[in-house]
Amino acid sequence: MEISNRVLLAPLASIGNWFVRLQAKRYGAGLSVSEMVSSFGLHYGNEKTMKELLRIHPDEHPVSIQLFGHSPEAMESGARIAADAGADLIDINMGCPVPKVRKTGAGAELLSDPELALDLARAAREGSGLPVTVKIRSGLMPGDRSGYDLAIRLVEEAGAAGIGFHPRVAKQGHKGQPDYALARELSEAIDVPLIISGGLSSAEAARFAYEESNADAVMIARGSLGYPWVFAELTGQEVDPPSRESVMDELAWIMDRAEEHMGEDRAGRYLRKFYPWYLDQLDVPKVVRSELCQTAGLDRAREIVAGIRNGEPVAV
Ligand SMILES: Cc1cc2nc3c(=O)[nH]c(=O)nc-3n(C[C@H](O)[C@H](O)[C@H](O)COP(=O)(O)O)c2cc1C
Repeated sequence: MEISNRVLLAPLASIGNWFVRLQAKRYGAGLSVSEMVSSFGLHYGNEKTMKELLRIHPDEHPVSIQLFGHSPEAMESGARIAADAGADLIDINMGCPVPKVRKTGAGAELLSDPELALDLARAAREGSGLPVTVKIRSGLMPGDRSGYDLAIRLVEEAGAAGIGFHPRVAKQGHKGQPDYALARELSEAIDVPLIISGGLSSAEAARFAYEESNADAVMIARGSLGYPWVFAELTGQEVDPPSRESVMDELAWIMDRAEEHMGEDRAGRYLRKFYPWYLDQLDVPKVVRSELCQTAGLDRAREIVAGIRNGEPVAV
């Protein structure tokens, strides 16, 4: 499979749904990876997993669906279901450090059970018939390179088509400097694309990571929140910083899509985490900002957003 450029949207739990991925695509991302989706949820036909998490928009391809889980049987059927829903690639999560996920034996916990990790990757290939990539941490604890070793085995023994490498150990969570030198070493040890993740907070940081790690592609995570322009910057499309109007137009676009996806009530609550990502780029009075971030009503939120867009004082 070929993608049009080397700039990807990273998987982001509870965020990377079809419209966030479509937004990344509109700004030039070559591939978007979904938020992590439970292989068990798909295997057992959970309604929300099937209808919401697996929803793919016709214009967002290519899209990779990221699955997590610890059962090869569920991974095989989950991957088949994702492929039937239109996934172009399957990615397996072997990096999530969250205790709730690790406790089940999934995410970064798989670094301590390499044989199971290999079986999961084989099962996903078998079930989907698609290329399977793995997103993985470098290790569990400081000094541990078990993720590095497992990445090589995933390529050599389970046919992984690419490695999304986050060179921070699980214990670090999302903090600290990623070890790009280790990523460079891995890029030289495998003959499939290495996609670097971690610390890519801006276009400049992404370019630095790309050079330092010798990666084939970059995966933008937090640096894309409220700032899809990062994809344009990295793919050479647009250089000027976005205007106040464009930032708020983009937020309004997200609000419309969220309503379409989950209905007015749920969207009103869901969107509250999105607002700061957009407002952080603008000079907005504190009182207006806190009113927007606390309102659960979509109509009221739209009024406030329109006021901010036009630079008008908003009555609160
Ligand atoms: C809110 C949030 C949700 C995330 N969800 C996922 C996920 O579902 N699957 C995954 O593999 N990584 C997930 N990650 C990790 C990111 O994809 C990325 O590897 C990490 O944020 C490091 O990149 P950054 O420092 O550029 O943000 C998540 C990170 C954040 C901040």
